[in-house]
Amino acid sequence: VVRDRAVGVEGMGWEALREAVAGCRACKLCEGRRQTVFGVGNASAHWMIVGEAPGEQEDRQGEPFVGKSGQLLDNMLRAIGLTREEADAAQQVYIANTLKCRPPGNRNPEPEELAQCEPFLIRQVELVRPRIILAMGRFAVQSLLRSHEPIGKLRGRVHHYQGVPLIVTYHPAYLLRNLDDKAKAWDDLCLAVHTLKSASR
Ligand code: URA
Repeated sequence: VVRDRAVGVEGMGWEALREAVAGCRACKLCEGRRQTVFGVGNASAHWMIVGEAPGEQEDRQGEPFVGKSGQLLDNMLRAIGLTREEADAAQQVYIANTLKCRPPGNRNPEPEELAQCEPFLIRQVELVRPRIILAMGRFAVQSLLRSHEPIGKLRGRVHHYQGVPLIVTYHPAYLLRNLDDKAKAWDDLCLAVHTLKSASR
């Protein structure tokens, strides 16, 4: 199969970037997807949430985090006064995944897939210019922090990505299976709120 190389996204605006994602055939995931899942939310949101990859529901609906993990994510966000719906930039989030296409059967992303898709996420962060990033799960962390450390070792302190404070936390799908770690995820959200508050003082 001849696939296009990943496009150069430097300097792209939102529309061009959205089109580049929709037409991307840089890795084999393009063959099994129903559609690409670009991202959702306010393009000037203060908060950016980065997940892993579309699952079945996301692949059907074209929006990130609309399945079971998404319900948990929405509840977590609501608990700290945030929403993916129309709202002030300060209350709204922009949500994106490290991969824009669904891996078959929701398997883990492969290094080649992460590498090909990464420029899209990098450009999304550049365009949103969030004040805080919440990286959920190990693949978001691998892409943004270049770290293979487990979440448990990275959470609980403030990291930075492109000068933006970044908080590491568990992926909602993991939390659904490991209820005991929900309290830690709550601490992570509180750390993010606190970090953002002290930065804007
Ligand atoms: N899990 C993710 O990481 N992203 C989604 O969009 C859905 C589930």
